[in-house]
Amino acid sequence: MAEPYYLTTAIHYPNGKPHIGHAYETIAADVLARFKRQSGFDVRFQTGTDEHGLKMAQKARDLGMTPRELADEMSGYFRALFDQLDISYDRFIRTTEETHHRSSQAIWKAMEDNGDLYLDRYEGWYSVRDEAYYDESELVEGEGGEKLSPQGTPVEWTVEESWFFRLSRYQEPLLALYRDNPDFIRPEGRRNEVMRFVEGGLRDLSVSRTSFDWGVKVPGAEEHVMYVWVDALTNYITGLGYPDQTGNFAKFWPADLHLIGKDIVRFHAVYWPAFLMSAGIAVPKSVFGHGFLLNRGQKESKSLGNVTDPAELADKFGVDTLRYFLMREISFGQDGSYSEEAIVTRSNSELANSFGNLAQRTLSMISKNMDGQLVHFETQGEDKVLLDTVRTACMEGLPQEFDRLAFSQGIDEWMRAVYACNQYVDEQAPWALRKTDPERMKAVLQTLFIALRDLAIAIQPVIPGKTAALLDQLGVAPGERSYADLEGEGWFPALVESGFTVGKPTPLFPRLELPAEESA
Ligand code: MF3
Repeated sequence: MAEPYYLTTAIHYPNGKPHIGHAYETIAADVLARFKRQSGFDVRFQTGTDEHGLKMAQKARDLGMTPRELADEMSGYFRALFDQLDISYDRFIRTTEETHHRSSQAIWKAMEDNGDLYLDRYEGWYSVRDEAYYDESELVEGEGGEKLSPQGTPVEWTVEESWFFRLSRYQEPLLALYRDNPDFIRPEGRRNEVMRFVEGGLRDLSVSRTSFDWGVKVPGAEEHVMYVWVDALTNYITGLGYPDQTGNFAKFWPADLHLIGKDIVRFHAVYWPAFLMSAGIAVPKSVFGHGFLLNRGQKESKSLGNVTDPAELADKFGVDTLRYFLMREISFGQDGSYSEEAIVTRSNSELANSFGNLAQRTLSMISKNMDGQLVHFETQGEDKVLLDTVRTACMEGLPQEFDRLAFSQGIDEWMRAVYACNQYVDEQAPWALRKTDPERMKAVLQTLFIALRDLAIAIQPVIPGKTAALLDQLGVAPGERSYADLEGEGWFPALVESGFTVGKPTPLFPRLELPAEESA
């Protein structure tokens, strides 16, 4: 039976339309989900929206809507964007779902039964933008001398009756978790930050609010709603059917990976495992905090007027081109920058001129010079050298890098194999062989045909739409497109036997041009 693999993104606040950062995280997770499926895992992939909390309540009030109306409308935009971007999620969760309220109340009761919840009074700083409590010592000073959170967001002094979670009890168990599982928090730098934070001592955490009511009710104390992060984090098990611990929960929990932004590592690597330990539930296997995506080096914001709608970007450049660009351009884990020029440059040089052109040249020559008919042949000499290079990149180079979430490096391995193919075409000059040595021409073109099939299979997780179209043109059956299928030699002779005809190809990646007003 296939090994289960459970992968999640953060769930997003639907207090506005999705921005490019949401697209970035979800695309990366989707690439990984597709990669794992194609590697033979039984993957479950969850994403969704985080709909409670003060931020949602305040935004709705400002807009003259109810929080539920706001959540319904904006959650729809997230889902539509993810569908447009070809995100292969298995579950899109909304925290306003009834099942999620039940699940959050169940984990609450389990923590309470363990003696980890008590009633007290909270007095301290809160950032609505981050939905986070901060210690006085963590605050920084803004330009006008005002106090700001370490993320640079406004904080307000808050005093209210609140339930507390005995986080202080979990300092040692958490440190032991990090020590015993060096890969629990990645990348390394984030792990060090978290360890320093926990070693500094943990204070009990305020986990309910009484000053507003947009949230999950605390069982037995209905004038309290849970702190939004308590219910939000619980989404990861709600989606598996918790509190029922059979079925999907038994199969997929603990999660293999929570993929999140670097700014919310503390919630996932400190609070969440502590809640789970308290409730007697296994902790996730790993948390990866990716970097921020910047627009020409700057954070997107309304005041700078540089906010880009990811749906428009995908419409303009194509879904697969956008996916490819984001995974290729930025070393995953670090911050990175994008611009329309960079998308066009990258896409033209690698997708249109290199990979797309290789496919176009090869298939049109087979279609024209061989009437699209494939024939039996032996690969030898330089043909074999090329195919070995391609196969190693596709079966080892790219997968090994993707396995450690080094998407850009993995694509680089693949791109080198594409370049090797283009160099081979130039050296072999099959167009010249047509008159001089037609048998040799066939061997060269068919070597390229096999290379294309391998290259297309390997890169499917990144550009699923374009590779599906190409593999269809190559006559590769949908059930024969996994990494394991790369090993086989039998498919080509079988394709020849079947009498498959290569048709006149349609270009995969048209050359892009910058919109006129921006190329000035
Ligand atoms: N909505 C939170 C944010 O955008 C992320 C919540 S992820 C969760 O910062 F799963 F933990 F809830």
